[in-house]
Amino acid sequence: MVMVSDELLGRHKAVLPAWLALYYDEPIEIVSGEACRVVDGAGREYLDFFGGILTNMLGYNVPEVRDAIKSQVDRGVVHTSTLYLIRSQIELAEKIASLSGIPDARVFFTSSGTEANEAALLLATQYRRSNQVLALRNSYHGRSFAGMGITGNRGWSASSLTPLNVHYVHSGYRYRSPFGDLPDADFVAACVDDLRDVITTMTAGDVACMIAEPIQGVGGFATPPDGYFAAFKEVLDEYGILFVSDEVQTGWGRTGEHFWGIDAHGVVPDAMTFAKGLGNGSSIGGVVARADVMNCLTANSISTFGGNPLVTAAANATLDYVLAHDLQSNAAKVGAVLFEGIRDLQARHPFIGDVRGKGLMIGVELVRAGSKTPDAAAAGRVLEATKARGLLVGKGGLFGNVLRIAPPLTLTDDEATEGLRLLGQAFAAAEGAA
Ligand SMILES: Cc1ncc(COP(=O)(O)O)c(C=O)c1O
Repeated sequence: MVMVSDELLGRHKAVLPAWLALYYDEPIEIVSGEACRVVDGAGREYLDFFGGILTNMLGYNVPEVRDAIKSQVDRGVVHTSTLYLIRSQIELAEKIASLSGIPDARVFFTSSGTEANEAALLLATQYRRSNQVLALRNSYHGRSFAGMGITGNRGWSASSLTPLNVHYVHSGYRYRSPFGDLPDADFVAACVDDLRDVITTMTAGDVACMIAEPIQGVGGFATPPDGYFAAFKEVLDEYGILFVSDEVQTGWGRTGEHFWGIDAHGVVPDAMTFAKGLGNGSSIGGVVARADVMNCLTANSISTFGGNPLVTAAANATLDYVLAHDLQSNAAKVGAVLFEGIRDLQARHPFIGDVRGKGLMIGVELVRAGSKTPDAAAAGRVLEATKARGLLVGKGGLFGNVLRIAPPLTLTDDEATEGLRLLGQAFAAAEGAA
């Protein structure tokens, strides 16, 4: 008998690009969901610790978001275009501008994180009249030419073509950094020295901006010491170089202790980009920036779908929910339970080389026991073993050997404990199978 998923997989392979990777030996189709759980096409239930890549930020079937989408659809208008006033877009921009901490901020909405970063790069390069950009090694910022151009990860750089002149500085990926063994302050100082060296030896000085993820998402939740970017910003300020924080994964309270990832560094960026969680699944991204930076363009620029009535209705409902339920505090509280639990598992499983992250954004780097040799096969085995036990987790990192644990921000203590139990079983099974 042909399984439904086999048939769907065959059709997927026949018509979709070969480079669109699927998880699992037997990929699944998620057909329904409720809170932090989803059900696949074969009726199997999973606790979801990846949330559609940190995008289902509230989980599934959230009445407030569903009702907001439904009531917009019921009004008969899903799209109008930015040629007309969009009340829900203006309301959302007001909220994001005020939450951003950027004085006199302006917001431009897009449909994706890639497009948000494109917009930020356009602003920075026009404002500074320079196409030179600093990015971080091990970064991921999107799939467009400029997005790939500032992506420092071979696995996600399908082309070297880029409109930008990019130089890569050290990131907070300490586990594999040449400076990784230094104490915090010395590590930061070494990276700052390198930043200064890159600016003075590789650029013409008038660099447009530096763009950085406060915690590198695709790069395996690599987390620099707090204050890292404040030390960077001191150097950038000497040159007038703008600082753009890519908050696509770290925004909206996910890191627990702060609302934006960059807040851990005491830095107010010149611009921030966002996407993923904001619409709880509706396609919305954007840039929030200083007014003089946002308003520096001298030609028209629009994103047809960006911030349309449907997605901004969903995003307003999502953001209101995050704030009304103080999900940032929940991320801190439940994230600590998960983090401690995973650290305990590390003590029992020598193939767990590193556990890092903040809040509900935890990376678990797998290595050959007793070394730092990346073990992508082990990560693959853990993924299969978690799936078999009803738990979905993500994978990433430069070598594909990092488990990414990023549940919806609504995760409960009980769900965290349940997930930890399943993770523990999966680690034991995957390690034993090596
Ligand atoms: C930090 C970061 N920036 C940008 C992007 C690109 O976003 P999108 O896939 O919505 O274009 C991603 C996607 O994973 C991301 O993680």
